[in-house]
Amino acid sequence: MSSVAISVVGMRALTVIPGQIGSAAVLDVDEPDPAQGDVLVQGLAVGICGTDHEIIEGLHGQAPPGSERLILGHESLGRVVEAPGSSAVTPGDLVVGIVRHPDPVPCSACAHGEWDMCRNGQFTEHGIQGLAGFASQRWRAQGDHVVRLDPALSEVGTLLEPTTVVTKAWEQVDRIGERAWFSPQTVLVTGAGPIGLLAAMVGVQRGHDVHVLDQVTEGAKPDRVAELGATYHAGDAAEVAAQVKADVVIEATGASPVIRALLGHQVPYEILVLTGISAPSPELIVDLGTVARDLVLGNGVVVGSVNANKRHYDQAASALAAADLDWLRRLISRRVPLEDFASALEPEPDDVKVVLTLE
Ligand code: BGC
Repeated sequence: MSSVAISVVGMRALTVIPGQIGSAAVLDVDEPDPAQGDVLVQGLAVGICGTDHEIIEGLHGQAPPGSERLILGHESLGRVVEAPGSSAVTPGDLVVGIVRHPDPVPCSACAHGEWDMCRNGQFTEHGIQGLAGFASQRWRAQGDHVVRLDPALSEVGTLLEPTTVVTKAWEQVDRIGERAWFSPQTVLVTGAGPIGLLAAMVGVQRGHDVHVLDQVTEGAKPDRVAELGATYHAGDAAEVAAQVKADVVIEATGASPVIRALLGHQVPYEILVLTGISAPSPELIVDLGTVARDLVLGNGVVVGSVNANKRHYDQAASALAAADLDWLRRLISRRVPLEDFASALEPEPDDVKVVLTLE
């Protein structure tokens, strides 16, 4: 076992009682249990995303068995403190923890390392579902559940996890496209939050003509899109979809009216990937017959895509390494110390990604 020295004086973590609104608190917590893995990591930062907000609002999340509180945080970045000699990581390495663990049964997908496709729902997720998250000053993981990052990404490494959601979505596009001749040119991304912007970034890296739709007309979102060399739209989703006629649409808002507009304007052989987690919208009327007819007559595909496996983490690490580091830095709107988590959770008008620092 090799290790680097760190000062250990209590450990602080952002915690929540799942299902209980207003329970989020930074507290002293126990050192991570060695049973969680033989790689000990010093937490450097965590990104905050919509899922964290949902957990804090009591809508989602599950504490580990036997605990009342869940340590939040799944968009991690840390530095290895201790790792066994046999491990692929060594002390000092910059790492990100993989969010989801396979279900214990395991189902056929998890048995193949494709835990992002878990079929029985018994998977666990750090900071979300039954496993301590990464918003703590130290955390542990098994050596095969951490991914080493290029040291140049030390300021932006928390963007790896959201990028894995995107690289998985792009992999779905390629695999579905293989059912026939496929050479996508035009891509529409709906939503210019972190997932949408990272999806656009990968689309540009792949050489596509990328269009991004969001609501705001100025500020960080249109600026980041323009810097990518992509086209920004701030209009009605149906009009933009009809105008762009994209081969691939990556939906990253989760907003039901946007999804309805996209379903109503599919072009033949389009692949529409849904990545946002929508709220129920029983008031929204959709003519399913027309949607189904258009899908059939146009060989259309609508696919849901969540989470990511090890392959997508490796793809995401390559995508970030190939990206413009200054552009990635500009995606992080604010860095807030752990103890001030409440201000990190309070959205500011031009926020793209807010990061909690843990040191
Ligand atoms: C995370 C995914 C996770 C999903 C559902 C997202 O915010 O990025 O890794 O699977 O939430 O829990």
